[in-house]
Amino acid sequence: TLLKFCAGRLSCSVGRRVYTYGTLALMLLIVYRLFDLDPDLLPLFQYTCKQFSSPQECLSSPEFLDHIRKVMLVIDAAVTHLENLSSLEEYLVNLGKKHQAVGVKVDSFSAVGESLMFMLEKCLGTAFSPDVREAWTRLYGAVVKAMSHGWDA
Ligand code: HEM
Repeated sequence: TLLKFCAGRLSCSVGRRVYTYGTLALMLLIVYRLFDLDPDLLPLFQYTCKQFSSPQECLSSPEFLDHIRKVMLVIDAAVTHLENLSSLEEYLVNLGKKHQAVGVKVDSFSAVGESLMFMLEKCLGTAFSPDVREAWTRLYGAVVKAMSHGWDA
């Protein structure tokens, strides 16, 4: 319990944002898993014309960490609107369009999904039962499906 408390309190700042080590550890899990699954995604993240050459470089970029926060916020919004996901449809289609514009392929979202599942599995341990996995997979699948409409539009 003390360790947990400390982990919650220990923090570090990247750019102007302050992260607790707990949050950073989760992001680390996602990032390493993502670039393990699909190293070709690395060059798609370019901020101020810099191109990252390693996951380590990504992790020291405030903009990149911010993107992981953005992904989490979208998932969070989907959980909040679980009963009425269609209310997010327009936002998600637009979000899809933005990703198409930066060169992302719909197929790449599956690597992000697997990285999220990997992180959840590591965090939840045995609590990540097949039912829980199924529920998260469905939720993420619904988000990606809506975003993918941005490619047809
Ligand atoms: C914006 C790349 C997956 C949510 C962006 C941007 C890039 C990018 C380059 C613009 C710069 C930025 O705001 O950081 C990617 C890549 C992905 C990916 C390569 C992997 C396949 C996702 C997923 C979600 C998401 C799965 C959510 C479920 C967002 C949001 C923004 C964004 C909310 C901000 C859009 C805005 O400015 O209105 N993404 N993304 N991204 N991404 Fe992604």
